[in-house]
Amino acid sequence: MRGLFVTATDTGVGKTILSACLLAAMVADGERVRAFKPVVTGLEDRAQGGGGGEADRWPADHELLAAAAGMSPRDVAPFRYGPATSPHLAAELAGEPIAPDRLLVAARGASGPDTQRETLVVEGVGGLLVPLAPNYLVRDLAAALGLPLLIAARAGLGTINHTLLTIDAARAAGLEVLAVVLTPWPAQPTTLERSNRETIARLGEVEVQTLAVVAGREESELARAGGALPWRRWLTDARSR
Ligand SMILES: Nc1ncnc2c1ncn2[C@@H]1O[C@H](COP(=O)(O)OP(=O)(O)OP(=O)(O)O)[C@@H](O)[C@H]1O
Ligand SMILES: [Mg+2]
Repeated sequence: MRGLFVTATDTGVGKTILSACLLAAMVADGERVRAFKPVVTGLEDRAQGGGGGEADRWPADHELLAAAAGMSPRDVAPFRYGPATSPHLAAELAGEPIAPDRLLVAARGASGPDTQRETLVVEGVGGLLVPLAPNYLVRDLAAALGLPLLIAARAGLGTINHTLLTIDAARAAGLEVLAVVLTPWPAQPTTLERSNRETIARLGEVEVQTLAVVAGREESELARAGGALPWRRWLTDARSR
């Protein structure tokens, strides 16, 4: 299946924003897209307004992805939970562990000629080693879907270690890392941020791109930021392996 799997070095790094920017840029360029978020947690905090200002500015992950992809939020994220916990715990608390097969079926969507022409953008949950089920990690889902990775990473202090660990964890499982995307990337990066970018590229032997600060959820703004990323080359590179 043609597509990209967006993971990150941690939760709250920028996977949703990066995924939405990619989807919006693809749609603006005439691509047929599908978005998938295997599991959404923490919806009860959001309902109570616990997310604060940022939650008001950015909708829940599956809602932003759905708007960017022109889908319904329920189709983007079939498994949705209230507690802000790891997916495997949220499912356990709800009384039914998630069966990995059901994730795969939902990710692939309805089979048919249309699906073949679609580009799938999957937003992972947290980082690569987060359990979706007791013995099934986000990394296992990426491998089962056969999708190459983009790694969203912070630009500042601490990111070299987190990013290199994530790259190692990906490659150890045979996953392809297309690029690291530092987000948000300031208009005037500091010496530290510019050095982090260069150091991750060198030590990780990986392409490093940056995503500018996205002002809001408008499709044009998302498409503008996503359009600066070489997503078409990434899709071609991944397919020509
Ligand atoms: N390019 C960007 N422009 C603006 N804000 C950004 C950008 N990248 C990251 N952020 C900030 O990081 C926060 C977290 O981003 P996002 O929700 O995309 O992370 P995530 O990795 O999807 O988190 P989760 O693990 O909860 O799914 C945003 O609310 C925003 O404050
Ligand atoms: Mg997210």
